[in-house]
Amino acid sequence: MKITNTYSLLSFAITGLLLVGCKAGGNDQGLEYAPQMYHSVAYEPLTQITDESQGAWLSTREDGKGEYYNSNTNNPNNMNMREPVANTVPRNKNGYLPYRLKTSELELAGQTVRNPFEPTDQVLAEGEQLFLNYCSTCHGKGGEGDGKAGMKIGGVANLTGGAYLGLPEGHIFHVITKGKGRMGAHGSQILPEDRWKIVSYVKQKIQGGQGAQTPVVAEAEVSTEETPAN
Ligand code: HEC
Repeated sequence: MKITNTYSLLSFAITGLLLVGCKAGGNDQGLEYAPQMYHSVAYEPLTQITDESQGAWLSTREDGKGEYYNSNTNNPNNMNMREPVANTVPRNKNGYLPYRLKTSELELAGQTVRNPFEPTDQVLAEGEQLFLNYCSTCHGKGGEGDGKAGMKIGGVANLTGGAYLGLPEGHIFHVITKGKGRMGAHGSQILPEDRWKIVSYVKQKIQGGQGAQTPVVAEAEVSTEETPAN
């Protein structure tokens, strides 16, 4: 009995010690059971290991450097990620510039932000589906403000009537992107091109084309906002 007790106490202590040994924190990543699973061969943009001997003990690299060495010698200071070119603004892969207007700059959005899409059948069909997915819960299938969630929340805009009919397309885009009053922002959920398709659908189908913008004349209008570059 006594011996069993001693053994269990001992194994308890050893397990404890082992667990403490595995503990990671600060710059110590703890014990790695399969190091090659954790250390990237490809350049890691957000880390930089300049010490060529790190991970030498398990290295199978052809250049003879340590397994963990991760620096791009083609870049200044061996950085893995280059800094953006000075005085440039990144576009997304579809050529869209970042949207810079603030929530309160609704009027400015209405005046300056332009829909890059022509309301073709395909744009409207996609816009309809997106509207059903993202907006109809509150605004209702026909935009009358009678969606199920909308009835609970109350105060949902009826997009088919009154002053809403004349809203500029940039204004609607801004409201979807940044939200307004009791309506939350949807910018993080819906891609800019999809937001524009919704705008086209709302304007052409729900509002019967009232207040629709004239087709974009390529040039200045597509300058700074979330519209594609020419
Ligand atoms: C969670 C419910 C909800 C959803 C989802 C929602 N809205 Fe709204 N929306 C509202 C409410 C509430 C208002 C009234 C806002 C206010 O003035 O306080 C509103 C107002 C609006 C307005 C009028 C803005 C103005 O200038 O007064 C437009 C346009 C609009 N929504 C479009 C959309 C579109 C397009 C979608 C889908 C991408 C959408 N909404 C999704 C609740 C919602």
